[in-house]
Amino acid sequence: MGEKKHNNQKRVLTGITTSGIPHLGNLSGAVLPAIEASQEKSVSSFLFLADYHSLIKNIDPALTHSSSFEIAACWLACGLNPEEVTFYRQSDVPHIFELTWILNCLAAKGLMNRAHAYKAAVAENNNVDDPDKGITMGLYNYPILMAADILMFKADIVPVGQDQKQHIEMTRDIALRFNHYYGNILSIPEAMIDEKKGIIPGSDGRKMSKSYGNTIPIFDTSKKLRKAIMKIKTNSLEPGEPKDPLDCSVFKIFQAFANEDQINNLKKEYANGIAWGKAKEELFNLLEEKIMPFRSEYEKITQDRDYIENTLKNGAQKALAISTPIIKEIRRAVGIKEFK
Ligand code: TRP
Repeated sequence: MGEKKHNNQKRVLTGITTSGIPHLGNLSGAVLPAIEASQEKSVSSFLFLADYHSLIKNIDPALTHSSSFEIAACWLACGLNPEEVTFYRQSDVPHIFELTWILNCLAAKGLMNRAHAYKAAVAENNNVDDPDKGITMGLYNYPILMAADILMFKADIVPVGQDQKQHIEMTRDIALRFNHYYGNILSIPEAMIDEKKGIIPGSDGRKMSKSYGNTIPIFDTSKKLRKAIMKIKTNSLEPGEPKDPLDCSVFKIFQAFANEDQINNLKKEYANGIAWGKAKEELFNLLEEKIMPFRSEYEKITQDRDYIENTLKNGAQKALAISTPIIKEIRRAVGIKEFK
């Protein structure tokens, strides 16, 4: 028995942690590729706001709340059709948290010890007595909540940025363990990573991330976008000196949004020694052109809070219709069931 997928459609699932304002990395890493994939008939898409994940990174309730709203508006402004996909808030699907506990009881602690984010936090404590100082169980368990997000809907494919690859491997590991003990119930998901795009760097050259405070916001004014771009760190090569596009944040961001011709043109300009100011100007022009239509849509959508709320409520109903039979199946499998 168990829950069946329609017409052999592949389930594609991805989420965004709602702990900051929508930025360029969200667009190129999750929003645009997921919207594109959702338009394929052979795909059934699950797109969600990882609002409980945000508590791991941030303890400001106002920020968690406003960020959820802004990220929701971002998906819709960029062309997501909520009729064609299942678009929901993680917090509206309590089954995910029930499954999180079940997976907690299966996941090896040693596996979590190896998580990159946890290891990085421990490494920061290298001159403190307690290597776990300041590290919460939330951070430690992050990959298990993420595994529950994915396994709850029996997702087949998870489009993510390269930095999330390890989390998908952990999800597979935990799912295999579950199936080994309790029968073949969970789907084993695969990561879909656009290697070509790599990781979008932020203004300081590190990965663009809310935690580093180096993001380039998308729905602010043109003036602010321009200012953020002009602040991107570059090396000190002068105009006229050939520059290496592979070693340049401006180029890497450009590449994630441009077409082949535009990329090749800019490559040539780098070889010819383009001035940094000019390269940044080209990036600004490209982004303005790409983002402008989304920006006006965003302004419209954010005026209508009821529309966003109702859209997410409908999405939660769709999500629950799928998670309910799956969690029943899982409960039974682990022995939590009626005495009949
Ligand atoms: N960890 C992801 C990120 O920060 C967000 C996320 C939470 C996610 N749950 C997920 C992504 C499930 C894909 C699938 O980018």
